[in-house]
Amino acid sequence: MQCSWKFMVLLALASIAIQYTAIRTFSTSRLGLLCSVGLAPSGHAVNCSPKDLARVTQQTLDGFGCDDIFSHNSSSRSFPLPTYDTKKRTHILILATTRSGSSFVGQLFNQHPEVFYLFEPLYHVQLALLPRLAQSRNLAERRAMLGAARDLLRSLYHCHLNSLESYIQPRPANHSTDKLFRRGASRSLCSPPVCEASLDPKEQSLVLADEGECVRKCGPLNVSLAADACRAKRHAAIKTVRIPQITDLRALIEDPRLNLKVVQLVRDPRGILASRIETFRDTYRLWRLWRATGRRPHNLDLGQINTVCEDFLRSVSTGLARPAWLKGRYMLLRYEDLARFPLEKTRELYSFLGLVLDHSVEDWIINNTRGSSDLSSRQKFTTVRDSAANAENWRVKLSFDMVVYTQTACQPLLGLLGYKTVFHPRELRNLSHSLVQDRRFLPFY
Ligand SMILES: *[C@@H]1O[C@H](CO)[C@@H](O)[C@H](O)[C@H]1NC(C)=O
Ligand SMILES: *[C@@H]1O[C@H](CO)[C@@H](O)[C@H](O)[C@H]1NC(C)=O
Ligand SMILES: *[C@@H]1O[C@H](CO)[C@@H](O)[C@H](O)[C@H]1NC(C)=O
Ligand SMILES: *[C@@H]1O[C@H](CO)[C@@H](O)[C@H](O)[C@H]1NC(C)=O
Ligand SMILES: *[C@@H]1O[C@H](CO)[C@@H](O)[C@H](O)[C@H]1NC(C)=O
Repeated sequence: MQCSWKFMVLLALASIAIQYTAIRTFSTSRLGLLCSVGLAPSGHAVNCSPKDLARVTQQTLDGFGCDDIFSHNSSSRSFPLPTYDTKKRTHILILATTRSGSSFVGQLFNQHPEVFYLFEPLYHVQLALLPRLAQSRNLAERRAMLGAARDLLRSLYHCHLNSLESYIQPRPANHSTDKLFRRGASRSLCSPPVCEASLDPKEQSLVLADEGECVRKCGPLNVSLAADACRAKRHAAIKTVRIPQITDLRALIEDPRLNLKVVQLVRDPRGILASRIETFRDTYRLWRLWRATGRRPHNLDLGQINTVCEDFLRSVSTGLARPAWLKGRYMLLRYEDLARFPLEKTRELYSFLGLVLDHSVEDWIINNTRGSSDLSSRQKFTTVRDSAANAENWRVKLSFDMVVYTQTACQPLLGLLGYKTVFHPRELRNLSHSLVQDRRFLPFY
């Protein structure tokens, strides 16, 4: 069984490699896609610790909290409205990196009753191809990986969920599997008709708040039923941290049948770093050592954070240059803005997508940000909340030296996104002095 599975993957890999050799949208400088946590150091063999992998699976929501969700005057909205076609099926991709707040943004769609949402299906592509690609920095193979990822995304948006089955290990029999990564993060996959354990409405929110509960109660996933559920929804959204740059998606964006809109989520790289140090303790071991001892380890690897900054820089530069192929299809979203003004930013997001914002999404935001007065609903998220209480808490978690080191490496990106550099520890720790410049990154049509 083992051998035949490997053989199949190799065969698939070879054929995809040939298929995609002609595609030009690939940049050679990255290994980002290869590491499960999306942060392989460029120019280094990829090495993601299994412990870190396990940790990723443990995480439910990226931390979130904000004091002033209601304080922003949303009548000051001044972004242009796109022309709507409410009949048209819209496909949404959240282009993110790990610890940039993508779980939260995913929820903004997952909570919408008319959106079919999948949390990181490309995990399976990576897992299937990783054993071979981990040892390889071969361009054709990395291209094959992205090619496979694009193919799968296209299939999933068309609700051909069985395309995913060939990447799931063990291969599902009778289109039924209990191995779908983070199934519990997808509301459609945890509620009727996909989930047969018909949950009484009181329990439903409990189950959805706890992914494990969904998996335990619903039994194996019937992929055919899931595909039906996908077709029954008006729109589909997919979150991924496994596509490095916007240009990697060009072929999908230009596909007129797909009607794909991309939300690129960015976050201050210093915040990403602080959050990853907490989350991926093995991979970021040397950074923790630095924090603990106050001395920078001589073999500290900046590769991971460089990859984040390079990928952001290229994508954002591409987006801000407003190429014709991104017209009406690209929106840049800073996590910090979402943290400060969740309702307003979510309205902007839905307006860009041309979707009607459902009150269940607004309710979810109110319940799950610090605007919530309901302690019991908050407690479900306590562990995650505490580990990353808000978008700017990196300022008390990183040492001044670490901040300087990181912001120097990422300087061009910080300027582009409007994140201020700090020059003094006092400035770093003074949280009433914001490091996020007020900027609007408007979609263009
Ligand atoms: C919000 O803006 C409107 C129009 O600019 C203004 O009339 C209103 O007083 C503002 N509300 C708050 C709370 O600032
Ligand atoms: C798949 O379904 C067939 C027919 O219902 C059944 O005979 C078979 O045992 C099933 N296979 C597995 C692995 O469950
Ligand atoms: C999955 O659902 C379909 C459609 O209801 C049904 O025909 C099929 O038997 C189910 N498969 C399994 C393994 O339960
Ligand atoms: C928000 O919280 C209230 C009160 O706990 C609850 O009744 C409601 O179902 C929650 N809504 C969402 C969308 O989580
Ligand atoms: C903190 O920043 C605010 C706003 O920039 C400033 O007014 C205040 O003096 C600063 N406090 C300290 C202790 O530096």
